[in-house]
Parts: sequence; structure tokens; C-alpha cells
Amino acid sequence: NLNLSCVMVIFGGTGDLTHRKLIPALYNLKYEGILPDNFAVISVGRREKTTETYRNEIYESVKSFSRFKMDDEKWKELSERIYYHRQDFSDDDGYIRLNDFLNELDKKYNTNGNRVYYLAVAPESFETIVGKLHKHCMADNSNSWRRVVIEKPFGRDLKSAQFLNQKINEAFAEKDIYRIDHYLGKEMLQNIMVIRFANAFFEPIWNNRFIDNIQISSSEMVGVENRGGYYEKAGALRDMVQNHMLQLLTLTAMEPPVNLETESIRDEKVKVLRSLQVLTPELVKKNVVRGQYGPGKIEGRGVPGYREEERVSPDSKTETFIALKTYVENFRWSGVPFYIRTGKRMPAKSTEIVIQFKPLPEILYFKEYGIMEPNLLVIKVQPQEGIFLQFNAKRPGTSNIIVPVQMDFCQNCHAGSNSPEAYERLLYDVMRGDSTLFTRWDEVEHSWRFVDNIAQVWNDENTEISKYESGKWGPKEADELLARDNRKWWNIGEVSFKNI
Ligand code: BG6
Repeated sequence: NLNLSCVMVIFGGTGDLTHRKLIPALYNLKYEGILPDNFAVISVGRREKTTETYRNEIYESVKSFSRFKMDDEKWKELSERIYYHRQDFSDDDGYIRLNDFLNELDKKYNTNGNRVYYLAVAPESFETIVGKLHKHCMADNSNSWRRVVIEKPFGRDLKSAQFLNQKINEAFAEKDIYRIDHYLGKEMLQNIMVIRFANAFFEPIWNNRFIDNIQISSSEMVGVENRGGYYEKAGALRDMVQNHMLQLLTLTAMEPPVNLETESIRDEKVKVLRSLQVLTPELVKKNVVRGQYGPGKIEGRGVPGYREEERVSPDSKTETFIALKTYVENFRWSGVPFYIRTGKRMPAKSTEIVIQFKPLPEILYFKEYGIMEPNLLVIKVQPQEGIFLQFNAKRPGTSNIIVPVQMDFCQNCHAGSNSPEAYERLLYDVMRGDSTLFTRWDEVEHSWRFVDNIAQVWNDENTEISKYESGKWGPKEADELLARDNRKWWNIGEVSFKNI
């Protein structure tokens, strides 16, 4: 008896996100028969165009970006319910017209006045749009539900995030605010809790007695693409660490929740963020590395450096790479370093969490054979989804050679390569009112506290940023960060393909 019926209003209907992710995700939900019957979309944009032109444009996007083939019948059913509405985001008359249009569609499609307002716009417009929705009573939920979805970035530091939050709270209650972090929609992120809390052999050793260190890496091969304007102000710290990387960390480190309800899970995640080591300026200088890609090669093709990209300053100090070491200062994790690393223009597209276990006492095999490879458990988030275990075994034959061997569980090999796109899951959750996979305000707040300490030091410091060649695993300082601790990064591919 979930009431999914609604009209979805997408602000930024002509933008990249809508074309590449949102409309294809709605099509996929339609294709799978999950989209409610009583449903319609209004795409709001500033450009002049007719609904017909708009439908033709998004048809092309769905063809390119959907994970399903184009089914003309299904597309017709969906696209007939997608409308284009032109208005400026600050124009009061535009909202009055929009509201009239919404009421009309409510009647036509029997959507009960339920609405999702999706803000797929530049962050500068969040406050204006939410303020206008409030002013024109469009957020009023007395007879129906009204939810707002906010894309990242949620502010650019703690102060601006607090201000923005206050503005949104004037219009919407916390339970109706869906702050998107699309990593939470990825299959393997939802799987981390299951792996940890549904297996007898993981949870008992998931602590500082058995784990040596945890490495959370997310690398991309793409550069900044056409987002120079946004990225110059964000950098990898705000673009990836404040949200996706810290979400990966919290899910890896959190305590088991008391139950599986939304708030119980979020409570545990917040506790991890509150336990993060406070990075003093000295610690930032010692344990945080920033880098920027120079020219180089990706898959054999020459690519320009960051400073040569469109809408990027030729002397930009924006980081496209960050590596850091931190601690979760609680009983479970005391003394276990968490290394985080993310960057653009690296050799592979991959997101992984590597759990490295402590070495055994230097007796028996360890005495005979010297240093052996550590036990590793790798949670593979993308592009392959699955789990990978490395352990030591005897090489078959007459010699007594010990070699690392692997057990590899590939989720997308078993479940088919069609695991749903993050946005499908998240849009569906908004419609059914489940905010578990969205960021609660205090998560945002604590992650900014962590990030601000780093940004502040970089801001005050006048040092050059380290460069790395495109197609390499970041600047040498990132390797030195681990080498200092007698450790090394586990790079994708290096672990996986050793011959027995
Ligand atoms: C986005 C960032 O949130 O995540 C991008 O703004 C980044 O810069 C992207 O490329 C990575 O997402 P995914 O799903 O491709 O790993």
C-alpha cells in the first residue's frame, strides 16, 4: 500500500545529469515495470523549446544511456507523460504557472498532489528554487507528500552547508529532504553491510586486533571533461572525499545498527564520522597529499594536463587527486590507519576497499620463507562488483613453495551484468519515501568538519601542488605516505592476477 503516485519536477531538465542519468533511469524503471501508473514528469529549463522538441532530445539520450534497448512502445507510454516547462528559477510568475500546470497534471494522472522536486541544477540555484517553492506554497504537504531531492555539492564548506540547510528546512521537513550521494545507490555499497553483518567469518575479525590497515580507493580515467567551471571551485576534496569516499569509509567502519531502520543505520554512520581523527594543520601537512594531473597518456592516447582543460585557469591550484591517512578513533579501530585515495586521469576506472590483515607471528612458514603476502579482503565496488580474498597456500608439486592464491566472487558475473544503475534505485526510493540511502543532515555536517580542516590549510598555504602524469597512480608523495608506514597501495590488477 505504498503510495508511489506523483509528479516529478526536474529543475535543470535540459542539463547533463537529466539527459545522462535521470531520464534513462526513469526509462529503466518503466522498462522493468516498476514505475507507478499514476506518474508524470515536468522538466523545467530556462531554454525556449516545445515539449515535442524536448521529447525528441531525451529519446536520443535514452537510446545512448539506458542499460536496456529502446522499446518504442514503453518509451511512448513514458514520454507521453514527460512535459517541458520554461521558466527562470527566480521568476515568481513562472512558479505560479508551474503550480497551475502541476494541479492540472495531478487531475489528469490522478497523482494525489504528491510531488518530487528534483534539483538537478548548479548549487547556486538551490536556495532560490527552494525559497520560491516555499513562497508559493508548493512545498505544503498537508494533503499529500512533497519531497525535495538535492544534488551535490551540498554547500562548499560547513558554513555554507549550514546556511543552505536552514533555508531548505524553512520549506521542507528533514524527512522530506533527500540529499543524494549516488554512491549509496551502487549495489556493492548496499552490500557492505550484508557482507559484514550476515557472515560469521567476517565480523569477528573486523577490528584492530586483526586488521592492519584499510585502503579506500576510487580512480577514474576521465579528466575533468566539460565541468571545468564547477571543478575549479570544488577539486577532488569536495567533489569526491566529502561525500562518496566518506560514505565508503563509514559503511566499512560502522558498528552494527540496532535494527535495519533508516535512522538506526544513519545513527551508526554518524558515530563513525564523529570519531574521525581531527586533522590539525600539522597532520594535514604530514598526512594529506594533493596532486594535479599533467599531460600524459590514457590507454595509449595523448591527453592534455588539467591546466590546459576548458574553463580551467592556466595556473590553477585545484587538486584532481587526493590521498590521505586518517584514523577512526574508537574502540574497534584505534590504531588502524584508513588510507583514502581518489583521482582523475589514473590508469584504471575502479573503486575498491582493501582490508589488509595483520601478519602472523614469525614462526613456522613465516620463519622459513620470510615475508609472505598479507591476507587481503577486497570489496570491489566497480566496474566489477564482488569480493576477493587473498590467502597463502602451498604451490602444488614437490617443492614447499608458499604462494598467495585468490578466491574471487564476481557479483555481476553471477547476477548478470545488468545490475541497476544507482539513480534507478535512488529515484525509486524517493518515490516510496525511503531515505536510508540518502545523506542525513548530521552526516553532511560532520563530513564538512573533516574536509574543512584540510581545505583551510591548503587555503592558507602557498605551496605548489604536486603534479602527476596522466595515466599514473598520482604523485610520488602518495606512495611515500604509505612507504613511511612500511606499507604500499594495492593497485587494481596487481593483486588479482598472480599465477600459482
Ligand atoms: C561525481 C563527481 O559525484 O562522481 C564526478 O562529481 C565523478 O567528478 C563521479 O566523476 C564518479 O562517479 P562514478 O559513479 O562514475 O564512480
